[in-house]
Amino acid sequence: MDEQLIKTVNKLQDAFATVGVHNPVDLPQIVVIGSQSSGKSSVLENIVGRDFLPRGTGIVTRRPLVLQLINRPAKSAPKENGDVNENPDEWGEFLHLPGKKFFNFDEIRQEIVQDTDRKTGKNLGISPVPINLRVFSPNVLTLTLVDLPGLTKVPVGDQPKDIERQIREMIMAYITKPNAIILAVTAANTDLANSDGLKLARDVDPEGTRTIGVLTKVDLMDKGTDVIDILAGRVIPLRIGYVPVVNRGQKDIENKRSIHSALDAERNFFESHVSYQNKAQYCGTPFLARKLSLLLMHHIKANLPEIKAKISAALVKYMSELEQLGDPLTDAAGQAANTTLSIITEFCNDFRGSLEGQSTDLST
Ligand code: GDP
Ligand code: NA
Ligand code: MG
Repeated sequence: MDEQLIKTVNKLQDAFATVGVHNPVDLPQIVVIGSQSSGKSSVLENIVGRDFLPRGTGIVTRRPLVLQLINRPAKSAPKENGDVNENPDEWGEFLHLPGKKFFNFDEIRQEIVQDTDRKTGKNLGISPVPINLRVFSPNVLTLTLVDLPGLTKVPVGDQPKDIERQIREMIMAYITKPNAIILAVTAANTDLANSDGLKLARDVDPEGTRTIGVLTKVDLMDKGTDVIDILAGRVIPLRIGYVPVVNRGQKDIENKRSIHSALDAERNFFESHVSYQNKAQYCGTPFLARKLSLLLMHHIKANLPEIKAKISAALVKYMSELEQLGDPLTDAAGQAANTTLSIITEFCNDFRGSLEGQSTDLST
């Protein structure tokens, strides 16, 4: 995620928490949709930057996973080795296991797998009952992401006859919310015209103002073919456009290839591929993260009037409290309140500045 955005929003949340207003910015939920095994879980994991989601061929994600990222400042010095899947400042907690902290992200994955089985049976069943996971970390934006089962048509194992309808309903429950940003994932080695994700996205977001097309498996396309026509909007145009990515393949999963190394390989792929090398900055996971950040900034911008109203209300409340305290400057409590006032003022200026510094053009 974009560091500037994380800083700005966290400052905002902090300043408001000081005056007792919590979550002034209701950030959108980011929801991944698409066909089974198109790479949804892989995309989500790369965005978060940690290994913790079950991935693989077949129907691996069989219940919605509602992932709440919560920003917490670091308490310990940063670790040297970024590949270690454990860090004292980052941990996960499941709603169904209150009080238990998971510092090992491999164990988080195991718990997701086990709790999926508990609710769906072992034989590939599905369930709309979400798994709720909170991840606390200094490196994330306080934000909710949702991983969903992929669309399939033919039931296998214990799956219901109407599995297609059931999964569709599961997906709809998340993407119809106007507050949702849809990552419509399509494997680049399949036909875009058959993309289940794009079809569903178009149903709920016909204007395309909150849908980002994500093209996965660009590395698996036939030699001599590429996604240039799609990126240029010549196949199925999307207002916010498409981002091509390369995630870890099944072999990489089995060999436990790290995210770090996967992102390096992805950059290498686009920079050295004859079709993409002159537009490599518009390709890959980092560009997808930037696009997402821009969308979030847009959302905040659209909500600025509401945020300002909250600031004014907090100011009025403080002014009247100050009056009751008498001369604020000679009084300790008054001084604390004054400090808060200046934080808010500083924040307002800062925030406006950082918004104006952001491009409003989402089409690049
Ligand atoms: P989901 O079912 O849509 O959540 O897809 P997963 O993320 O579980 O991925 C399904 C399979 O596709 C796994 O074996 C992944 O390793 C593989 N995969 C996903 N994205 C890519 C990609 O960009 N390139 C390659 N080669 N394999 C990928
Ligand atoms: Na899969
Ligand atoms: Mg999945």
